[in-house]
Amino acid sequence: MRLHVVDHPLVAHKLTTLRDERTDSPTFRRLADELVTLLAYEATRDVRTEQVDVRTPVAPTTGVRLSYPRPLVVPILRAGLGMLDGMVRLLPTAEVGFLGMVRDEDTLQAQTYATRMPEDLSGRQVYVVDPMLATGGTLIAAIRLLIDRGADDVTALCLLAAPEGVELMERELAGQPVTVVTGAIDERLNEHGFIVPGLGDAGDRLYG
Ligand code: PRP
Repeated sequence: MRLHVVDHPLVAHKLTTLRDERTDSPTFRRLADELVTLLAYEATRDVRTEQVDVRTPVAPTTGVRLSYPRPLVVPILRAGLGMLDGMVRLLPTAEVGFLGMVRDEDTLQAQTYATRMPEDLSGRQVYVVDPMLATGGTLIAAIRLLIDRGADDVTALCLLAAPEGVELMERELAGQPVTVVTGAIDERLNEHGFIVPGLGDAGDRLYG
């Protein structure tokens, strides 16, 4: 598994406002959307392309376009929906699949309640979006499902991560074709499985 923390002053600036408890839902949604664009710029560095011919008003030349099969973008409901628009704006040809997962508040175990995506993901590049990587249980389960269906390149985009979750992912997904791109790695998880300092419950702040 590869890890990439996007070290950029604009990311840090927007994350700071996102963390602020006084930031209201409309502003939170807008900032999450803007952050996706910045993270996706890094996360799509290896997006597959193919060469095409193009004629400018001056001369013929060659360029690239996103190749087929199309990349798949998978938001993890509910909070991942806040990152979907930003991703498909950058990857307009992407197909979108959905994974509904929720973490039990007591056991912190992730449960899957909805799956809507192609059965066969052989040879597909997949971008999973979820704002929070806390214990890592949700993303590990999601990525295993994608790899079981044949995905051969999975990139997870998170706004924030906890070191405990990153370590668990590195252990559980060692040797797998997985990249995690995050805006920051915070201090720790608290006893309720919340990222500290974090930003609270992303789902509630987006849609609560
Ligand atoms: C949050 C978050 C992740 C998960 C992270 O979702 O959006 O999906 O928890 O936790 P983990 O790394 O410990 O598994 P939540 O379960 O609160 O559901 P929601 O998006 O519907 O609010």
